[in-house]
Amino acid sequence: MLIRDSSERPRGTLLKRFPVPRSQGLSPGSRVRAGREWPAPANARRLRTLQVYRYDPEGDEGPRLDTYRVDAEACGPMLLDALIHIKNTVDPTLTFRRSCREGVCGSCAMNIDGTNWLACTRALTETDEPVQVYPLNNLPIIKDLVGDQRHAFAQYELIRPWLRADTPAPDAHERLQSPEERARLDGAYECILCFCCTSGCPSHWWNGDRFLGPAVLLQAYRWLADSRDEATGERLDELEDPFRLYRCHTILNCTRTCPKGLNPGWAIAEIKRMLLERNL
Ligand code: SF4
Ligand code: SF4
Ligand code: FES
Repeated sequence: MLIRDSSERPRGTLLKRFPVPRSQGLSPGSRVRAGREWPAPANARRLRTLQVYRYDPEGDEGPRLDTYRVDAEACGPMLLDALIHIKNTVDPTLTFRRSCREGVCGSCAMNIDGTNWLACTRALTETDEPVQVYPLNNLPIIKDLVGDQRHAFAQYELIRPWLRADTPAPDAHERLQSPEERARLDGAYECILCFCCTSGCPSHWWNGDRFLGPAVLLQAYRWLADSRDEATGERLDELEDPFRLYRCHTILNCTRTCPKGLNPGWAIAEIKRMLLERNL
């Protein structure tokens, strides 16, 4: 089940603070303490409360959860609008990434009410009260809601995500595909590399140094499925590894949390099928 709305979170099985409650098993210095309470604006018509993770690794203090109150009538309808409103009018030190504001750049991925999603495509009306906002799980924090994605992008680079073909491109036109060949890319080319899936994948938490994770494996499948690419065997050789691919245990957290509605778990299973078929 894809979790599009905070109310759709399966409360019996998924913790509010995913993957672990914010103070469980952590050293005292890492525990998230209650932070600053910002006052509600005067004459607010529709008050919403946001509890937002704050942490500056260069400072002397551990992480904290600040509480902001915003008038939802004074900002746009999305959670990202509320965060921008806070940054512009309440607290300019709040740090988060954003660019397109319409779900195509992947910058504003964060953990909202316990599941990963894009802040620009999660309406305030689809969040809990108070809404809890944390950075994506399992990334070193640069500041507040900004996680360090260098490792994720290094893994992406590892699969060499570009067309590999020895046949020269035609002079008169692009490398052509039939409609059927083009359709095989559906469900893969739409990935915006937000890494909601990879940061929600338990196998990547435990073996992220060697397991490529769902986002990168979906991209690997995108090139395996491309009729114009001529390096299928080479790409499969590179993936046939107990850790890079086979650490996926089909838990499907990735598929439940993809804000583009993609199915990395299926793509990973397709890669395993291709490897099995060529080894028969
Ligand atoms: S299906 Fe595989 S890649 Fe997706 S969350 Fe589960 S283990 Fe991770
Ligand atoms: S598969 Fe979905 S969740 Fe994963 S990086 Fe791509 S768009 Fe984001
Ligand atoms: S700001 Fe680009 S996806 Fe949200």
